[in-house]
Amino acid sequence: MGEYPPSVTVVHSTVVTLFPDLFRPLLEQSVFGRAVRRGLLRVDFVDLRTFGEGRHRVVDDRPFGGGPGMVLMAEPVIRAVEAARARHPRGCRTVYLSPQGRTLTQAMVRDLATAPGLVLLCGRYEGVDERALEVLRPEEVSIGDYVLSGGELAAMVVLDAVARLRPGVLGDERSPAEDSFGEGEGLLDHPHYTRPLDVRGIGVPEVLRGGNHGAIAAWRRAQALARTRARRPDLLRGRPGSPDAPAAAPPA
Ligand code: ADE
Repeated sequence: MGEYPPSVTVVHSTVVTLFPDLFRPLLEQSVFGRAVRRGLLRVDFVDLRTFGEGRHRVVDDRPFGGGPGMVLMAEPVIRAVEAARARHPRGCRTVYLSPQGRTLTQAMVRDLATAPGLVLLCGRYEGVDERALEVLRPEEVSIGDYVLSGGELAAMVVLDAVARLRPGVLGDERSPAEDSFGEGEGLLDHPHYTRPLDVRGIGVPEVLRGGNHGAIAAWRRAQALARTRARRPDLLRGRPGSPDAPAAAPPA
């Protein structure tokens, strides 16, 4: 079994959303669903609509200053997030999913995974009244430089990425340390092969069939480095041996 980060504690997350049903496939199926059923993870929901105003539970209104779209009103958002926070111990982290946030990285995922609980606020429409953010002071996180129609898919990305760091979620034999951007070197992953040996005339690299574990590890590392250099040279910047690495100190 590989090494897990020692401080992964997130078991319980609460999502604040207008569309809790969107999360059902994630919670019921595959790796995440199995972990929920085994009690390794728990995801609850606060339905933002419950905190809406009036008989119709209105949660949005037109923007001051004009312009297209609607804005989520501050009070329903504040009250919903406060209700979500009340379900968690002190020190839980609140994340607002928005394209204005800091772009999610594996390092941020590892850090979030150490929280005693997560509250994930999903925006909709043109966004949330800025005063709700002033009051709640959430961490604002984006999953990339593109705009989704709401924060729900982004929240699922965060939930999945954090969940798989929890021991037992992936199954005993796999370790998140070996992933691309894993604990180790932060390289892209090496290529993988499985049976059959021949796929449309394309074989499997000889070294993987030889059983020499040292040679296999060396081949995989070389492949990971070559891929990273070709596809994501930005990940290598500043590393020893890369062109922009600081010059080695002269011998004393
Ligand atoms: N909501 C809309 N677009 C988003 C993005 N790129 N990341 C996180 N939340 C979002």
